[in-house]
Parts: sequence; C-alpha cells; structure tokens
Amino acid sequence: FKVKNGFPENFLWGGATAASQVEGAYDVDGKGLSTSDMVPYKPMEHSNDNMKIEVTSEQLKAYLEDDSKEYFPKRKGVDFYHRYKEDIALFAEMGFKVYRLSIAWPRIFPNGDDKEPNEAGLAFYDKVFDELEKYGIEPFVTMTHYEMPINLVLKYNGFESRQAIDDYLRFAKVIFKRYKGRVKYWAPFNELNMMLTSPYTCGGVISDVSKYKDNEYQIKYQATHHQLIASALATKLCREIMPDAKIGCMIARLETYAATSKPEDQLQALLDEQLNVFYPEVLINGKYPNYIWRYFKEKGINIEMEPGDEEILRENTGDFIAFSYYMTYMATANPEPGVQVSGNLVGTSQNPHLELTDWDWPIDPIGLRITLNRLYDRFKVPLFIVENGLGAHDKVEDGKVHDPYRIDYLRRHIEQMKEAIIDGVDLIGYTTWGCIDLVSCGTSQMSKRYGFIYVDQDDHGNGTLERIRKDSFYWYKKVIQSNGEDL
Ligand code: BG6
Repeated sequence: FKVKNGFPENFLWGGATAASQVEGAYDVDGKGLSTSDMVPYKPMEHSNDNMKIEVTSEQLKAYLEDDSKEYFPKRKGVDFYHRYKEDIALFAEMGFKVYRLSIAWPRIFPNGDDKEPNEAGLAFYDKVFDELEKYGIEPFVTMTHYEMPINLVLKYNGFESRQAIDDYLRFAKVIFKRYKGRVKYWAPFNELNMMLTSPYTCGGVISDVSKYKDNEYQIKYQATHHQLIASALATKLCREIMPDAKIGCMIARLETYAATSKPEDQLQALLDEQLNVFYPEVLINGKYPNYIWRYFKEKGINIEMEPGDEEILRENTGDFIAFSYYMTYMATANPEPGVQVSGNLVGTSQNPHLELTDWDWPIDPIGLRITLNRLYDRFKVPLFIVENGLGAHDKVEDGKVHDPYRIDYLRRHIEQMKEAIIDGVDLIGYTTWGCIDLVSCGTSQMSKRYGFIYVDQDDHGNGTLERIRKDSFYWYKKVIQSNGEDL
C-alpha cells in the first residue's frame, strides 16, 4: 500500500442541492404536489425548532382544502426550474467536477400511481443534464430527496405501505431508462435514517394515521424496512439497465462521542453508533446486523418481512457509502444530560470543546476525519461526502457578501479530509451542501444560508432572486483548481 500525500487526481469536487429546496415551480408543467410542498413557514423561536418536521393528518387535510393562509417556501425554492442555466454556469465557473441534485418524483409521476410518466418532467432533467454535459460536470442523482407524491401519503401512508416499493420502482425504472448513459452516480434515497426523527419528510408517513400508531418505533422501522427493500431492488434494476453506473446508500452520519470515560457513557456511544451504521450494515453488508434484533425486541418492533426479502438484501448491495456530515454528537447514560444544543436531525448534549454555528450546531472538523476512518475501516467501500457546510446569516454590503466564517468552516473540514486520505481512506468526492442558497429543509428559512452563491430572497419569498457570488465562491474555485492544496 502506498501512502497518498493528498487528494487523488480524479477527486470529485462539487456541490449539492435537493429538488424541493431549489426548484420551485411546484405546479408547473404537470408536476403533482409533493410532501415538501405541504410544509409551511413557521418563524423559529428556538434554534432547535428544526428537529422535528412533522405534519399531522389534520394539518395536511386543512392545507389541502385551503392553502391561502400559509406560505410554503419549498413551493417557490429559488426558482432553479427557470434559472438552471445561469446556476449551472456559475457552478462551472467554480470548476465543479460533480453536481449532486435530486429528481422531484412528483414531476415524473404527479400522483405516484399514474399509468404514464409526465413527459414534461422528464424533459426538464434532460435539459439539466445537457447543461451539465456542456461543462463536463458529472451529475450525482439522489433519486428522491425528502419528498414523494402527496397522493401516495393520502392513499396508503407513504412507505408505511409495502405498495410504496412498487410505485417507487416504477419511478426508478423510468428515470434509469431515460437517463442511462448520462448519470453515473446514483443514491436511491436521501438520509434513510431521518425516518427516526421525521417519518413524514423521509417517507411520507403520518404517525397519527399509522396502523401501528401505538408504537412509534414499529412505524419507523417498518417503513425503513420498505425503504431498504426499495433501495436494494433499485440497485438491482440500476445494474440491469446501466451496468457501468455506480449506486450506493446515503445516510446522515451521526458521529457520536461518549460524554465521559465512564463505561456507561462509552456503552451508550457504542449503541448510538450501531443504530447509525445499521443502514449501511443492511445495504452494504447485505443483512440486518445481529445487534439490531435485541433492540427490536426491547422496543417491541416486529418487522413484517416477505419471503425473499433477506435474499433481496443479500444479493443487491451498494457500491459506495454517501453521507452528510455537519457535526458530532455526545452520548451519555446520565438521565440529566446537561445543556442541550441543536443539530442536524437530532439535538445533543453540548460538547464544551466545540464552537457552535448561528443555529447552535457544533462545529467539529476533526470529527470528519474520525468518521471517515471509522466508516472505511468498517465497510471498506469508497466513501463520498455528499453534504457538508455551514448554515449562517449572510449580509450583502455594496453588492458583495463577505463570508470568512464559511471559508474557515470548509477549509478546516477539507484539511481533515486530506488527513483521512493520507490515513488510507478511499474518499472519492465532496459536494458541499447548498452550493447555492436554498430553502432550509429543517426550518424552511431562506435566511439560513449555505451557498457560495447568494440568492436575493427572504424568509417570506420577497426578493429579486438575483444571484451574487460570495467571497467563498472565489475561494472554492481556487480550492478546486489546486485539487485541495490551496486552502
Ligand atoms: C440534511 C438534508 O440533513 O441537512 C438537507 O439532507 C438539509 O436537505 C441539510 O437542507 C441541512 O439542514 P437544514 O435544516 O439546515 O436545511
């Protein structure tokens, strides 16, 4: 083995977005309503208000009857649907090698169960891929990122139902056949583990109408099982239709430290870790790991499996692990865990060694090196960081946006990625989250900005939507040009 001294030559530098957070045009060219179109803007009172994005059946019914009283930011996005040419030109100017985007499922199947796909929706992504090809940018497609046709929620409560697997696979087949030869990297779902915090967002599951409503764990893991089978079958289909493509799983990586050296805290950290790597255990190693059965027993979870499910999982494992990394978490066995801070998907006890972002998320670049080593040692497949970034308040001054805090955050994470590569980790790419400002997933705010490109729009949808290059835009361009050497 030869120790590397930096990023490999073909390293995939780029940025990432999700359809529901950028596209807008929610009812244009035949698109159907999606779960994310039904999440209204609510001003945040606490920094951790983002931790649960749930919609009750009553709220959903009310919004469907009359949506005039609320503002739904994800319906508007940042109008990528009409401005994709301008936006992709800006990505190209930064030198992107890859752009991670998602396909809005209800653009292709407006109701999820339509007989024929919607040609206008398919044509939109053709045009996006044309534009990427023009600049030599490789697309990385998340087949669905936190949204599904609302009709499938109303009809059978999303992924709680096994029927969702078939409807998802019909969608998968159509996009694989259509975009074959144009897209090399695929992920069946975004952050599968989000089901544990927000089943509605992750899988269109509304807890209060679930047939398992007495046991929230049962709801979440049954729906997860359906998504795992859907992922494995999509992997199979992908290989049949596009033998040259790569398809992997995508999780939110929750790297967790024990709060102290006390054995009870260490054990808690281990248990938290097991729950987080459960998803790649199934999708990369091909089976439910032993430890999960005790957890299921203790939580009263009985997964309804069909004959053949185990075989499906065993025979269709993924090529790589893609993950988001924003921060690290703390595990404690103490029933009074101390000061809590906010975070991606879940909050955590505060780690006194880490500074916090404007939204009280801990910042931990070294944690990224730790996580890369841990995942690689355990799974030994290529890793792809498909989300990492800083949500912050930005200000426009004389037509410019100075964001040294974002540069600092990204620089420190990239330094640690390089260390991990020297450690021997096979890291193939890095797409920063929200390379252009977009609507926050957790808070639906526009003011929580992640981009290299500023978008003139406020939390209520006012603004010209003009795009402005931030200081970090020029910095990232230099990073890509120097293949990660000039930070
Ligand atoms: C990830 C999601 O969990 O976190 C993204 O995949 C999301 O969709 C990102 O936008 C950042 O979270 P937030 O709540 O700040 O938008």
